[in-house]
Amino acid sequence: MPPPTTSPIHHSLPLTLIVATTPIRVASAHAHDETRLGIGLNGTLPWPRIKTDMSFFARVTSHPPQKGTTNAIIMGRKTYDSVPKSLRPLGKRISVVISRDTTGSVSEGVRKELEAKKAKMAAKAAEEGKEKVEEPGQDTDAIVMPSLDAALKELEGMEGLGKIFVIGGAEIYGAALRDASDGLKLHGRPVRVVMTNVIRKPEGGEEVPFECDTFWPLDSMDNVSGWRSVGSEELSEWVGEEVTWEWKREGECEVQMVGFERLG
Ligand SMILES: NC(=O)c1ccc[n+]([C@@H]2O[C@H](COP(=O)([O-])OP(=O)(O)OC[C@H]3O[C@@H](n4cnc5c(N)ncnc54)[C@H](OP(=O)(O)O)[C@@H]3O)[C@@H](O)[C@H]2O)c1
Repeated sequence: MPPPTTSPIHHSLPLTLIVATTPIRVASAHAHDETRLGIGLNGTLPWPRIKTDMSFFARVTSHPPQKGTTNAIIMGRKTYDSVPKSLRPLGKRISVVISRDTTGSVSEGVRKELEAKKAKMAAKAAEEGKEKVEEPGQDTDAIVMPSLDAALKELEGMEGLGKIFVIGGAEIYGAALRDASDGLKLHGRPVRVVMTNVIRKPEGGEEVPFECDTFWPLDSMDNVSGWRSVGSEELSEWVGEEVTWEWKREGECEVQMVGFERLG
């Protein structure tokens, strides 16, 4: 069998921020209320588990651009902590946890959880009589880095790196959007946003807003604020599967996937 193909890093590859948001009306000092995009509540998501979005996130972030490569997901330490212990670090991706911790306790915690995950995967494979659980190159790994810049530098030095996603939370999305000042790119990468719009609308009823305490850092994502909304065909190409702009119902919620690119 030929060895898995790996490719060098192309710096024109995008950096994709992937997020699920819900519109929240907030009182403003001006005459009109403003709409902000809520993303979190009490350290977790504002809505109950939405399978459609969870599986979309899992597929898009783990699907490598080519065989033999592994995608990376960059997240703040609080977002890492918000992932259920039994699932973290997320499989078949390189988790990069950003933390200012200098005591080593965050690194130690992540390292132990990675070891436990690998042991669990090996035990499962042995039980099923398989030698390998992962495709070549589709490794599960996790590291802790002191900043987004350091994380990107570390990833760019890795062989077999696939796509890079920033998966939140608000502080890390904010850092990525702030740092993208180099010709509106970050580390030479165009910045994209793949967003799931979430609303709660019981069948036949009115929309009922969620409660949120954590928000997407931008209040608007239109041409004026420097963003281009992409069509469903382009979004499908970005995420590697067909996406339409249709709203899909799941229980009391409706979700819709959209995409934005920073205008150069
Ligand atoms: N809706 C969505 O798609 C989505 C996605 C992700 C998260 N969320 C939600 O968002 C909330 C968490 O977001 P958050 O903004 O509170 O936290 P966060 O961004 O996940 O993590 C914040 C932590 O990251 C580290 N950090 C932040 N900026 C840093 C920097 N410049 N340099 C080094 N380290 C830095 C710090 O870790 P230390 O304290 O360890 O130093 C900080 O406490 C949760 O409710 C979560 O469920 C929602």
